[in-house]
Amino acid sequence: MSGVSVTKDVQDAAGAADGLVVLSNVNKHFGALHVLQDIDLSIARGEVVVVIGPSGSGKSTLCRTINRLETIDSGSITLDGKPLPAEGKELARLRADVGMVFQSFNLFAHKTVLQNVMLGQLKVRKTDQAAALERAKSLLDRVGVGSQADKYPAQLSGGQQQRVAIARALAMEPKVMLFDEPTSALDPEMINEVLEVMQQLAAEGMTMVVVTHEMGFARSAANRVVFMADGKIVEQATPEQFFSNPRSDRAKDFLSKILHH
Ligand SMILES: Nc1ncnc2c1ncn2[C@@H]1O[C@H](COP(=O)(O)OP(=O)(O)OP(=O)(O)O)[C@@H](O)[C@H]1O
Ligand SMILES: [Mg+2]
Repeated sequence: MSGVSVTKDVQDAAGAADGLVVLSNVNKHFGALHVLQDIDLSIARGEVVVVIGPSGSGKSTLCRTINRLETIDSGSITLDGKPLPAEGKELARLRADVGMVFQSFNLFAHKTVLQNVMLGQLKVRKTDQAAALERAKSLLDRVGVGSQADKYPAQLSGGQQQRVAIARALAMEPKVMLFDEPTSALDPEMINEVLEVMQQLAAEGMTMVVVTHEMGFARSAANRVVFMADGKIVEQATPEQFFSNPRSDRAKDFLSKILHH
């Protein structure tokens, strides 16, 4: 009824038209399993989308299709208006444009923290050595691990390693960052230091897709919550709407399980 909701609808429509990442009618199977079913999702520039849902619902697969770690069977995915490239240098560039942070940090064990953050800049972006070094140092400072630059990943805590992984993705100047349960392998006392870095990124306007069960983060940083179950987007809403008034039985059931333990 209110003018506010009308304005919001107009903004939603504009957001869809200006989608930085747009998935249209995406389907994917793993053998007999229809893991992504008719997925339509448009992520606007600067938007922070939190994806939640039960184990096996397809959240990781959804993320992985966006940087083509998984191919799709039908439908389309565009980044900045262009279909995702299939191979070669274009694909390497896509992987740089779409930063990905996983549960396991995947840092190169035999390279220092600084080298980890410089590598992609040198190889994929062809940044010169001095500029890559400067950028790596400043990003490590920004995520709070500047003093660890010359150590090897195994010498760092899990929380520190994950912040290095974030710095490494940011060093590529990505258009969008995907986070797949970035804190779920961390000891509780390290979760917040990683969430704080992500919160800061969100506040600076980074476009982000975040699979997480950290509901505090979803409430404070997300523009939108997307709830998946059985390969489908079952509902999506603002965090306030979703957490206070989930519409589907699947979402109500899921929330009652995760909020009550
Ligand atoms: N490479 C693969 N080959 C076959 N099946 C797969 C593959 N990757 C995932 N699956 C299956 O697809 C379904 C969705 O997996 P996915 O990892 O996307 O779920 P998820 O929502 O991320 O779950 P979780 O919360 O446990 O991480 C699961 O049933 C999983 O076993
Ligand atoms: Mg997963």
